[in-house]
Amino acid sequence: MMQWFMLAIAVLIALLLIGLALYFLFPRKYESPASVAHSYDNWTRDGILEFYWGEHIHLGHYGDPPRRKDFRQAKVDFVHEMVRWGGLDKLPPGTTVLDVGCGIGGSSRILARDYGFVVTGITISPQQVKRAQELTPPDLPVKFQVDDALALSFPDESFDVVWSVEAGPHIPDKQRFAYELMRVLKPGGILVVADWNQRDDRQKPLNPLEKFVMRQLLDQWSHPLFASIEGFAEALEATGLVVGEVITADWTRATLPSWLDSIWQGIVRPEGIVRFGLIGLIKSLREVPTFLLMRWAFGTGLCRFGMFKAVRAARPVSAGETTHSIAVN
Ligand SMILES: C[S@@+](CC[C@H](N)C(=O)[O-])C[C@H]1O[C@@H](n2cnc3c(N)ncnc32)[C@H](O)[C@@H]1O
Repeated sequence: MMQWFMLAIAVLIALLLIGLALYFLFPRKYESPASVAHSYDNWTRDGILEFYWGEHIHLGHYGDPPRRKDFRQAKVDFVHEMVRWGGLDKLPPGTTVLDVGCGIGGSSRILARDYGFVVTGITISPQQVKRAQELTPPDLPVKFQVDDALALSFPDESFDVVWSVEAGPHIPDKQRFAYELMRVLKPGGILVVADWNQRDDRQKPLNPLEKFVMRQLLDQWSHPLFASIEGFAEALEATGLVVGEVITADWTRATLPSWLDSIWQGIVRPEGIVRFGLIGLIKSLREVPTFLLMRWAFGTGLCRFGMFKAVRAARPVSAGETTHSIAVN
């Protein structure tokens, strides 16, 4: 019995070491939108991410202060919390929504099914579009297509609402991203964005440990850059297309349990090992350091979970009418 136990521990340590070696030797650095598409195509094709994270590739909302919750329920709750926070629950059925960086369509389907919105989801990953289409019942008013958030293929003033969850860290040019999001909104339309952000380093520069951690968080998941909450709000206002001020909120506390819950999924769902085999186990283990570093970064204030709401102006707003100047971290 003891021998089997020792053998199991030895195998686990060996797998952890292989996972760590993969982590350091083969990072998935951002190179271009194509490298992001490649990463998401791979993560979608093997099905591991969907198995553990479900149809929502975003953090959960656990309440504030956070309560214990089922991981997947917390993700569904996140979408409804974001709808309420953005005031979208007051909009009539038939409202048109663009979901920018839609993943495999988790949010898009809720917006269509529970709120009656007509949704277009775009992602840079062709595999995600294929999977999103497979997961969407034909009677839901949702369609998906490949598109680049930095050069959206839609004309100006196309949608009543633009929605984006956790796509921003993959996007290098935050000012261009902000402009594209606002450009495709109709006058009076609402933008709601949820994103991973970095502390504003103009106020308190990153120390060497924080710089090292930030580098890992960027290079492991194909991220060129995290904006700060203040910096992205300024970028939105600098588009000249925002009525008044951008409203922001910090949801770090409500979303924080998601990181350790992500690791916990691997323990409470051991059938994943049978389904994806040894390769799947190694692939999953290699993500553990990033989950732990994310937990550390969001728990210590290096990273913050930012919410943004902006209303589209009917005419371009001059610089004097906005409260911020351009400065994006
Ligand atoms: C963390 S996932 C979030 C997915 C989805 N919003 C959700 O919450 O389930 C990031 C998404 O952003 C998309 N993305 C990244 N860069 C993009 C770009 N330049 N244009 C369009 N989508 C992009 C990815 O393909 C992926 O779907």
